[in-house]
Amino acid sequence: MKYKVRIEPIGVEVSCDGNQTILDACLRNGVWVPHACTHGTCATCKSRIIEGEVDFGLASNFALMDFEREEGYVLLCTAKPRTNLVIEADVEVEEGIEFYPVKDFTGKVVEILDCARDTRKIQIEIENDKIFYLAGQYIQLYIPGTEQNRAYSIASRPLKDGNSTIELHIKRVPGGLGSGYVFEELKEGDKVRFAGPFGRFIFRKNFDNPILFLAGGTGLAPIKAMILDAISNGLKQEMYLFHGVRSTRDLYDKDVFEEIERENPNFHYIPALSEKLPEDEWDGELGFVHEVLERKFQKFSGFKAYISGPPPMVDACIKVLMRGRLFAEDIYTEKFFTEKDRIEGGSKVGIISRI
Ligand code: FES
Repeated sequence: MKYKVRIEPIGVEVSCDGNQTILDACLRNGVWVPHACTHGTCATCKSRIIEGEVDFGLASNFALMDFEREEGYVLLCTAKPRTNLVIEADVEVEEGIEFYPVKDFTGKVVEILDCARDTRKIQIEIENDKIFYLAGQYIQLYIPGTEQNRAYSIASRPLKDGNSTIELHIKRVPGGLGSGYVFEELKEGDKVRFAGPFGRFIFRKNFDNPILFLAGGTGLAPIKAMILDAISNGLKQEMYLFHGVRSTRDLYDKDVFEEIERENPNFHYIPALSEKLPEDEWDGELGFVHEVLERKFQKFSGFKAYISGPPPMVDACIKVLMRGRLFAEDIYTEKFFTEKDRIEGGSKVGIISRI
């Protein structure tokens, strides 16, 4: 059964199926309400019901307390309508940025490449369709045989006429549902289903000052899309990519960024190893991304920074940036949480966050 959901204060009405979450209905209709984990644990999508009844779904007690339920709050990513609704949501509008509606896609895996230790690049060719997205956004890949999906950032450059192929970077995580599927089952030629685009970790092109891209491990994926987008749009300011991995076994796409650096004097590629092995032939930077960053720069005022990687790496980089006078409005982050983080993280769990 379909219900009408009116979103205030913008007064837009969307249709929502009784089996569909309110968040899903909003995103598919181009209404960009805040969201992060999309699984009822981070509370980013908490909103108030002004009129009507909902099924709260699997909202965690950390993210939505009992007294909040009594006061009419719901998590839009888990709540499903039981009547027509009026909700009050913090709809996000950003000058000059238009988000694309979320859609479902099917595709074929056309290439699987083991590009580093326990790291795969997957190329998916979309069937009879194209995906429109902004550099930095992610998709939700459905895991066959389960009711679940997993979020993976798109590493390909977004094309003006839409992309018929997308690249994902996937790291094997012990016990991880998504990476278990990708490493143990998925083969070239297999069909996959996914939905997207999601997320607000997006590249802002209308900016002339220096840009820092800080990536840890496969946190490189959305950053790669941003850099390719920046270069293809002819951005001329200084851009610095710091990519942190443990050893050379974990480093990938070095050739891609070295070539960009050769062809674009304003782009600087700074890979760094935090656990160099005796056999590593390496005369580059050593240490964690935040340590290398602090050795290269002391002041960051006027910059914008995009940080993507495991939560401790992101937090350490934010501290260094803030010490160097760069503050929240110019720092964009995406935290890559593992399965273990999801289980242990309680209200902290999320995929995308904006500080
Ligand atoms: S709780 Fe809804 S997006 Fe995280």
